[in-house]
Amino acid sequence: MVEKTEQLYEGKAKKVFATTDPDLVIVSYKDDATAFNGAKKGTIVGKGVVNNRMSNYLMEKLEERGIPTHYVQELSERETLVKRVQIVPLEVIVRNIAAGSLSKRLGIPEGTPMKRTVLEYCYKCDELDDPMVNAYHILAMGYCTQEELNTIATMALKINQFLKKYFASINVELVDFKLEFGKTSDGKIVLADEISPDTCRFWDATTHEKLDKDRFRRDMGGVEDAYKEMMKRVLGE
Ligand code: TMP
Ligand code: ASP
Repeated sequence: MVEKTEQLYEGKAKKVFATTDPDLVIVSYKDDATAFNGAKKGTIVGKGVVNNRMSNYLMEKLEERGIPTHYVQELSERETLVKRVQIVPLEVIVRNIAAGSLSKRLGIPEGTPMKRTVLEYCYKCDELDDPMVNAYHILAMGYCTQEELNTIATMALKINQFLKKYFASINVELVDFKLEFGKTSDGKIVLADEISPDTCRFWDATTHEKLDKDRFRRDMGGVEDAYKEMMKRVLGE
């Protein structure tokens, strides 16, 4: 039986604990919410439970479709056993519909369909506000290798194909989302972090109502209800 030992790390939304198995760690999801690199802070009651359970459900589905993830076992409402990985210092953003920073940067109204999927990379660095980088920067700075980057891009697009169809089946448009990848002790690239209303833009496919963290980022109200609604659509409760 794997047991929780010392806390290794506390991030903005999760804590990570070591276990008695050196290749496994436990992530514990908090209700703390931040936006704009921590400039805005708050609490979304129940968020940790929604994000943990939704992420685990989706990662199980992805594993069934041949996409390797860090997921091992859900331990409780808020805690999950995952493979210990070295995080590739990139935020991988997949966009199906224009929104958020892309809309701002390129002057395109939110909701504008695009001719094809857009993949973006940001260097994970809070002090620099996660600056956008391209493949040249990534290879020049050695954030990962060319081979690893190819694997990451292929996996991100495959994950998008699955998630887009899956969310369409519960009447949700998957506008865009952020992924993180990690390297296991044997050098394999796996999907890590989470897939949740914190890291995805979800719009109701009929009303286009926002069902994600943009309600918190933009002070729209109804934040907890949006997370609950997504939990209901994904897990039926
Ligand atoms: P953006 O439009 O603000 O660049 O966000 C793109 C997607 O990435 C959106 O689904 C929200 C998600 N995201 C994160 O998960 N973490 C972040 O720090 C940011 C800025 C965005
Ligand atoms: N990662 C951002 C922050 O830390 C939150 C976000 O906009 O999703 O504040």
